[in-house]
Amino acid sequence: AKARHFKWEVEYMYRSPDCLEHIVMGINGQFPGPTIRAKAGDTIVVELTNKLHTEGVVIHWHGIRQLGTPWADGTASISQCAINPGETFKYRFKVDRPGTYFYHGHYGMQRSAGLYGSLIVDVADGEKEPFHYDGELNLLLSDWWHKGVHEQEVGLSSIPFRWIGEPQSLLINGRGQYNCSMAASFSNPAVGQCKFRGNEQCAPQILKVQPNKTYRLRIASTTALASLNLAIQGHTMVVVEADGNHVQPFAVKDLDIYSGESYSVLLRTDQNPSRNYWISIGVRGREPKTRQALTILNYSPTSASKIPTSRPPVTPPWNDYNHSKAFTKSIYALMGSPKPPETSHRRIVLLNTQNRVNGFIKWSINNVSLVLPSTPYLGSIKFGLNHGFDQRSPPDNYDSSYDIMKPAVNQNSTQGSGVYSITLNTTVDVILQNANALAKDMSEIHPWHLHGHDFWVLGYGEGKFEDGDEKRFNLNNPPLRNTAVIFPYGWTALRFVADNPGVWAFHCHIEPHLHMGMGVVFAEGVHRVGQIPREALACGLTGNKHN
Ligand code: C2O
Ligand code: CU
Repeated sequence: AKARHFKWEVEYMYRSPDCLEHIVMGINGQFPGPTIRAKAGDTIVVELTNKLHTEGVVIHWHGIRQLGTPWADGTASISQCAINPGETFKYRFKVDRPGTYFYHGHYGMQRSAGLYGSLIVDVADGEKEPFHYDGELNLLLSDWWHKGVHEQEVGLSSIPFRWIGEPQSLLINGRGQYNCSMAASFSNPAVGQCKFRGNEQCAPQILKVQPNKTYRLRIASTTALASLNLAIQGHTMVVVEADGNHVQPFAVKDLDIYSGESYSVLLRTDQNPSRNYWISIGVRGREPKTRQALTILNYSPTSASKIPTSRPPVTPPWNDYNHSKAFTKSIYALMGSPKPPETSHRRIVLLNTQNRVNGFIKWSINNVSLVLPSTPYLGSIKFGLNHGFDQRSPPDNYDSSYDIMKPAVNQNSTQGSGVYSITLNTTVDVILQNANALAKDMSEIHPWHLHGHDFWVLGYGEGKFEDGDEKRFNLNNPPLRNTAVIFPYGWTALRFVADNPGVWAFHCHIEPHLHMGMGVVFAEGVHRVGQIPREALACGLTGNKHN
């Protein structure tokens, strides 16, 4: 194992991610940021300098558990203070397990501004993956708005509320096409055929393959909003990895991916090599107002500029939830994967509702909409600073008379910064309970992401989770993940072992939802956290503490 050092500078820069010029957040002049590639057991050291003029910044390493280094998790107000303009912060952490991960900003809505990149961990020397492949391709998926992120943030926290709307473009490795289409001749959109020489910032990254080989396609989604579906014309994919964990291989024609998730699929290049094939990505779960993203699977020796001879695969209907559920429910842990404890010590039921707080539209969990404190929890809790955040814990359940199928009778909720204190080394069940939003007949998909841990996904259900539903939990081969969705009007059951001292965010990975309060905070064994680097806590109540 070795230490891999990086020096990064974060700044705004002009870019044309979807052929129109806007400012994006980049790293060292790159958008998306540089890919980190490491081997399991390596230590990553990123010296991050904030070159923004008026904003703090942090970077979260999504999917990396930060065992023993909770201060390197990169969540503003939770694990550390935002890094001020001009300052440098050193992230140092171990990537203990192979897998497909990514990193992104975790302050305000900086992920939406383009602050993200891939983080890929290969098996340690001498180790093998439980599957074989000849080559590897990487797709980092995101969505893009023409309205700047500051304007989006202000709109979300104004009266009247201004929703960000649907993305203008979907991006594959930071590239999309807004004002032209790669497949104009087939789908006849209101825009013309794209003509690229290849060096344009919005030209698609063509995936070059050799015939009759097996490729590992790594796919991660860091979308701000969109749930996606990916299909490769004429090819099936075999899913082998989800969020850094091996799964029981299964074949699919198309794959759903929600923000915060990652997958590896194996792709056999067994089709006619004298033509090329579309890779197409469309929106799910929301009425699509965004054109599908396209790129090309280019078989050697066919020319990369040869357009496939038939129309790109079409995404399943956006509201075909059965299709999505069928995919999600076919994911099981690979045989021999760690099994969950048979029982849990505590059950936390989290009701997801859309509410009003003083007239502002928010998301709440058990009637509390999360607001983050100015002193990071990790410092407040470790040093017993009781004024750092609300000392009252949020509730473990919601009023059982609540009708999840209808808008709330009392739409008002409260804001709070309380945490769930979890006893170290206990097993916790979390039931994510979906409900109707403020509008009638409206319930959305929310992908929930947990920091600091993986969890087992024990099951999904329709309607309200009732006592006794735990009898149907899959304790035999539930998948380990760090992100799981709740479907409209349904519930999802998760189990994790609280064995990682630190303070960990658990939240909806839809950026505007988190911004509107859709998250909770878990604190476990903070007294066992080792010496926190001083630079991590140089703000708020911990600003002049000599820890
Ligand atoms: Cu990828 Cu807390 O997020
Ligand atoms: Cu959400």
